[in-house]
Amino acid sequence: MITLHKIDQLRRQVALWRQAGQRIALVPTMGNLHTGHLRLVDRARQLADRVIATIFVNPLQFGQGEDFESYPRTLEDDSQKLEEYATDLLFAPAVSEVYQRPQTEQTIVRVPGLSDILCGQFRPGHFAGVATVVCKLFNMAQPDVAVFGEKDYQQLMVIRRMVEDLQIPVQIEGMATVREADGLAMSSRNGYLTVEERAKAPVVYQVLTQTAEALQAGDQDFKSLEESAWNSLENAGLRPDYFQIRRAQDLQSPDKEEKDLVILAAAYLGAARLIDNKTVTNR
Ligand code: PAJ
Repeated sequence: MITLHKIDQLRRQVALWRQAGQRIALVPTMGNLHTGHLRLVDRARQLADRVIATIFVNPLQFGQGEDFESYPRTLEDDSQKLEEYATDLLFAPAVSEVYQRPQTEQTIVRVPGLSDILCGQFRPGHFAGVATVVCKLFNMAQPDVAVFGEKDYQQLMVIRRMVEDLQIPVQIEGMATVREADGLAMSSRNGYLTVEERAKAPVVYQVLTQTAEALQAGDQDFKSLEESAWNSLENAGLRPDYFQIRRAQDLQSPDKEEKDLVILAAAYLGAARLIDNKTVTNR
């Protein structure tokens, strides 16, 4: 595996692969890799001749008082895992390489509407930070395909919309959420949980599953389903930001007859903000 830190080095390597007619896949991450991330690498491997993984803790997507400073940085371990998963290239740039001028002067990619609801309501500027860095990474690596997790459902939608709106020539591939044996969605932030909190954390997926079952069985009272889920989370000691049943296609509020839904949840458990979702299709 080649490890690079500079954009011009990355461009040179990508140009060589392109000259050889090879197809390139990109897997953007913030590192502290777990099986969920590595599954994306596996998928990328199936879709292309060369796999580039990026590790970059992107300051632009963290709000004030969020965990940018404390976000786990484990480059050596990550590098070993990527090597085991036959990654061709790890790109791990410094902040100063990606952002060459002060944040206030940086060109921003903003996806209106989609970025302002759900997580965007509680983390203003977050999705502009994500869209901007993903757009930059696409321009740096010029991949044919890029793989993202459905665990971050809204993020995946924002990225798809950005690619469509800006005519970026990259195929976006979504991957199912990888879970621990008890249902908890794998996340780098699960490391913030104490042993007691970790034991409670699967409640998020349990409540999503119960709500999905009720919807599947024909329950159309979205409001009371949301309320009872909220109460279950609070009773388990979590502090929900939101628990919402939305249209899978555009995250808007659904009509009662809507066939394809997604249930999305974000809740604090101690220092960790857990997010998860579950789709309910062909109801
Ligand atoms: P990060 O949280 O490191 O996640 C990197 C990628 O892994 C994302 O596409 C995310 O959806 C996916 N992922 C995380 N946990 C997963 C799980 N349990 N199952 C399946 N996929 C999972 O998301 C980001 O980083 C950043 O916002 C980024 C897109 C890299 C931009 O900075």
